Amino acid sequence: MFWDGRATGARLGDPLAEQAGGPFLNPLEQNNPSPTDVCVKVQASKYAKLFEQVWGKNSLDCSAAKIDQTYERIARSIAAYERSDEVTAFTSKYDYYLKGKAKLTQQENRGRLLFEGKAKCANCHTSQPGPQGQPPQFTDYSYDNLGVPRNPANPFYYQTDWNPDGLTWVDTGLGGYLKSAGYDAQVYELELGKHKVPTLRNVDLRPSPDFVKAYGHNGYFKSLEEIVHFYNTRDLPGARWLGIPWPPAEVSANVNTAEVGNLGLTADEESAIVAFLRTLTDGYKPK
Ligand code: HEC
Repeated sequence: MFWDGRATGARLGDPLAEQAGGPFLNPLEQNNPSPTDVCVKVQASKYAKLFEQVWGKNSLDCSAAKIDQTYERIARSIAAYERSDEVTAFTSKYDYYLKGKAKLTQQENRGRLLFEGKAKCANCHTSQPGPQGQPPQFTDYSYDNLGVPRNPANPFYYQTDWNPDGLTWVDTGLGGYLKSAGYDAQVYELELGKHKVPTLRNVDLRPSPDFVKAYGHNGYFKSLEEIVHFYNTRDLPGARWLGIPWPPAEVSANVNTAEVGNLGLTADEESAIVAFLRTLTDGYKPK
């Protein structure tokens, strides 16, 4: 639904479908020239038949008269797939633990208790099942400014065709979206610098153990150890990561200092939280 919340669902009644329609056409993502181009690619695909099975005979119509409807259906199909068991499997060690079918190690369990207690992670990354026993989503769907530093390696700074502000560009998150959508300053100013709380499911999933992931809305953090240390020490004078003090927040307004920044965790406690985050990867085989 995008880190800045711009896929609201207001247009299609489904934020997931609105999101799915975005990247195909974004010049910085898949860069298809038009919905028609996307439609023609779907027509040429192996799964074109499946599309007609779901949406009806001759539904994969890319003509000017039908393209809006067809493009919307492509997006809705992707959203339906994202909601299916294949994508949201809920088969992590933690899911089996909640059902009493797996045991956490001592370190993982210590991490869980910290996550839900002293480290306050569960205040935003919900870890308990819903009222009807729904598996926890690890997000409360709210927005926050954690004070994540700007990421100078973000190529967007140098893509001046798309980013006329160059190096002075600031990602203002939800507030920036609300401003562009025409909301009053008294509404958007309080949201500047806020980004959607992401789920932590599969946060450690990677194609190979040496694959370096990037965390946060701009990819500033390169490991779970680093981001947990940031939560713990952001506001601690003299705190460092790889010898470098934490840089200032990308957006200094609205930084959350109530729940984040100085948690008083020991190094062992930080490691335990990381061990717990590693139990959130799907595909665990209970013994
Ligand atoms: C006040 C709400 C809040 C609390 C408390 C919180 N988080 Fe977050 N978390 C967020 C938000 C918002 C982001 C995205 C921020 C951004 O990128 O600017 C995030 C991002 C993350 C990410 C990066 C995920 C990704 O896919 O990039 C990890 C990992 C994470 N949090 C773990 C934790 C842990 C561990 C704790 C406890 C030590 C914690 N969070 C506490 C709100 C919170």
